[in-house]
Amino acid sequence: MPKVKTKYVCSECGYTAAKWLGKCPDCGSWNTLNEEVEAAADVPPLKQKRASGAGAPALPIGDIPDEAASRTGTGINELDRVLGGGVVEGSMVLVGGDPGIGKSTLLTQLSANVSRMGETVLYVSGEESARQIKLRANRLGAEKTGFYVLSENDLSIIEARMQEISPRVMIVDSIQTMYRTDIASAPGSVSQVRECASRIMYLAKLSACAVFLVGHVTKDGSIAGPRVLEHMVDAVLYFEGDRSSQYRILRAVKNRFGSVNELGMFEMTGSGMKEVANASELLLSERAHDASGCVVMCAMEGTRPLLTDVQALVTPTVFGNPRRMTQGIDLGRLFMLLAVIEKRAAITLYNQDVYINVAGGLTLDEPASDLAVCAAAASSARDICLPPDWAVMGEVGLAGELRAITHADRRLNECVRMGFKHVILPKANTRSLKAPEGLDVHGADTLFDAFKILGMYRPKAAAK
Ligand code: TYD
Ligand code: MG
Repeated sequence: MPKVKTKYVCSECGYTAAKWLGKCPDCGSWNTLNEEVEAAADVPPLKQKRASGAGAPALPIGDIPDEAASRTGTGINELDRVLGGGVVEGSMVLVGGDPGIGKSTLLTQLSANVSRMGETVLYVSGEESARQIKLRANRLGAEKTGFYVLSENDLSIIEARMQEISPRVMIVDSIQTMYRTDIASAPGSVSQVRECASRIMYLAKLSACAVFLVGHVTKDGSIAGPRVLEHMVDAVLYFEGDRSSQYRILRAVKNRFGSVNELGMFEMTGSGMKEVANASELLLSERAHDASGCVVMCAMEGTRPLLTDVQALVTPTVFGNPRRMTQGIDLGRLFMLLAVIEKRAAITLYNQDVYINVAGGLTLDEPASDLAVCAAAASSARDICLPPDWAVMGEVGLAGELRAITHADRRLNECVRMGFKHVILPKANTRSLKAPEGLDVHGADTLFDAFKILGMYRPKAAAK
C-alpha cells in the first residue's frame, strides 16, 4: 500500500507547508493550517458525456436544448421562495446557522412533506440517534412511509444506503460530523469537510438526488470549514434570528437557480417552524404610536416588499463628542445623512447624540432607506410625530436631492395593503408612476421639500 502523503494548507490563503505551523507565514493568520491528504485517489472524476471519443464539442448556445431545471415544491412556501421556486433535482444546498436556531427542525419538516408527496427521503444524522430524529419527526407530524433515517458518520456506509434506497432528497446533518476513512484528519477538518462534500456532490449529480447539507457556523457567523464549500454547492442559505425570540429569517446568500437575497420568515412554535406569510404586519405590530422619531418605510428584501419601522433618538450630547450608533443601517451612511440634514435642511445635529434602530432586526442596505432615516432623525430632533398612516422612501444625495428608487410600484402596493394613506417618494418616481387607489403619493425633489411636506420645516431656520 503506498504511503499516504499529507500536507498542511492554510484555510485563509491556501499556503501549503510540509509540516504544521501555528501561524501562516504567508497571510499571518493563526491556527489556520490544516492537514490534507495529497491525493484522494478513489474519487472517480465526474463522468461527462463525450461525443464519439473526441471529447465534448463546444456548442453554439442556440443548439443547446432548453431544459428547465426540474423542481419539486417542498410544501413550505417560504422555503420554496428562498430556493427560487422549489428543490432542484441533483442540486446541493448548504444550510447554515447558529446552534439551536432550527436547521434540523426545518429540514425534518421538509423531509416529512416530501415523503408525504410519495417521494423517498433519506435523513442522515451524525449528531443525533435515529430515535431522537423519530421523536422530532413525530412531533412534526411525519408519516411513516418514504422517510428513511440513518444515524451514521462514515461516508462509505451512507453511500451504500443511498444506493439501496435511491432517495429523491437527502439531508446530511451535519457535514462537519461526516468522515471518509481514507483521510487521516478528524471529522470537521478542512480536508474532511471538503472531500466529503465533493463525494456527496458527485453522488447527488449521479443519481439526481437533491441534497441539503447542514453546516455549523463559526463564532463570526460564517460556515465552519473551507470557504470552498460555499463555492461548491448550488445554494447557500443562512438561518438568522435571535434565539430568544421565536422569529427566524432564512436568507439565500448564493443561489444558482434563483434570486439571492430572497428571504423567508418563520416562527418557531411547539410544533415546528410555521411560515409567517404577512411579514409586514409582524414587523409593524409593535410600533410605537404618538412617538417622535418613528418613520415607516417599505424595504425590498429580494423580491419581497417589507414594511418596517425606522426609529431614531436624538438627544443633546453630554460629553464633548456626539455619539452616533446604528442598528440595521450602515454607520458611515448615517454620518453622511446627518451631514446632509445639517447642511441642506438646517437642523442642528452636531451637538446631538443620534441613535438609529431598524425594528425587527432587519438590515437595510439599500439607498431607498435614506429618506426614512433622515425623517426619523429630524422628527426626533424637532420632537414632531409623524401621522401613523405615512410612509417615506427615497435615496438622499449629498446636495440634498432625492433620487429615484427601484420597485416603487411594488412598494406602494404593499403600503396600500397595510392601510397606509400617504407616501412621500422622489419626484423622479412619481412622474412615471400610477398611484394605487386609496394612496396619496407626494413627490419631493429634495430632502428639504420632504421635510416641508412632513411639517418639520421652520421658516426662520431653514436655508436652501
Ligand atoms: P434544532 O432544529 O434542533 O436546531 P439546530 O439543528 O439548528 O441546532 O432546533 C432546536 C430548538 O428548537 C430547540 O431549542 C427546541 C426548539 N423546537 C421547538 O421550539 N419546537 C419544535 O417543534 C422543535 C422540533 C424544536
Ligand atoms: Mg441540529
